Amino acid sequence: MLRQLAFALMLGGGLALAPHVIAQTSLDQATQPTEEPSILPAGEGQEEVFYACTACHSTAIIRRSRFSEARWDELMTWMTEVHGMAPLEGDERRLIVTYLAQHFGPAQTRPGARNPFLN
Ligand code: HEC
Repeated sequence: MLRQLAFALMLGGGLALAPHVIAQTSLDQATQPTEEPSILPAGEGQEEVFYACTACHSTAIIRRSRFSEARWDELMTWMTEVHGMAPLEGDERRLIVTYLAQHFGPAQTRPGARNPFLN
């Protein structure tokens, strides 16, 4: 009898604790570590790209991409027309597209980047 009671208390205690543990780690914290501009390669346009692009998504989607300058330019139009990004024009557009093509161009391996499938 005493043993059953102890077991029930343990079980109850465990369940009561669970919501507390869940509340402590919000899904956001667990899945979206805070990014800073330095996550992008240093260079002219780094901050502009960071702040213009992270309003809607993290930089991961940019960092995994490899596009030509023309394709990056088209993508800026697509982002505005389809996804509602504020139109990028003039010098700012040139700065951003040049930066993207320079650092995330086709067949480019950034310094220090390693192919995980070859290691
Ligand atoms: C207004 C919101 C918004 C802003 C601002 C924005 N994007 Fe996007 N972007 C999106 C959405 C929505 C998608 C589609 C996500 C998906 O398909 O999962 C996307 C997708 C992408 C993709 C993937 C395209 C593909 O075909 O693989 C790239 C690359 C990208 N964005 C780059 C950028 C860059 C660079 C900037 C800054 C100049 C930017 N985005 C700013 C909303 C935005």
